[in-house]
Amino acid sequence: MTEFKGQQGFTVWFTGLSGAGKTTLGSMLERELRARGINVERLDGDVVRRGLCRDLGFSREDRMKNIERVCFVARLLNRNGIWVTASFITPYRLMRSLLRKELPNYVEVYVQCPLSVLMKRDTKGLYRKALAGEIADFTGISDPFEEPENPDIVVRTDRETPEESLAGIIAQLEERNMI
Ligand code: ADX
Repeated sequence: MTEFKGQQGFTVWFTGLSGAGKTTLGSMLERELRARGINVERLDGDVVRRGLCRDLGFSREDRMKNIERVCFVARLLNRNGIWVTASFITPYRLMRSLLRKELPNYVEVYVQCPLSVLMKRDTKGLYRKALAGEIADFTGISDPFEEPENPDIVVRTDRETPEESLAGIIAQLEERNMI
């Protein structure tokens, strides 16, 4: 077995519905960690799906592949001491249990926001399209979002500002002596 010197990195994995704030928080946390001298890489659904996973769609099978590939990358980075912030819907329980199993330092953040609020906000206009039947298998509308059962951290983006959510996450990471 290969031995790695130095400390392993953590993966802070943001799960939640589209538009809940995963990208915003992933990027804010990345900035904060970097300011603390931590080596960190950000992985984001919208970016990864334009590159590494551009061959994949949104069937259950393709979503599984998407998360498996990102998990593989996160594992490589973590074992070389690099932290990862990952922002993906990650809608199925099976995915999240796989991540917990595969990533030795996995921290799950459930970015919670009621669907009614997201549909009203609809920043990308995707909920309107999904409701009109223009996008198939849309999470929360025509494809399930299986509520995380044992997240390490929960943030409520309908009630908190992004700064408040970030402060809550940082406080939790500090409490666990991760930073
Ligand atoms: S996941 O299900 O495989 O975890 P991922 O986070 O990579 O999803 O991608 C989600 C993003 O893809 C959404 O934020 C949205 O912009 C876009 N998207 C396009 N089609 C869909 C769809 N059918 N369901 C969910 N998101 C979609």
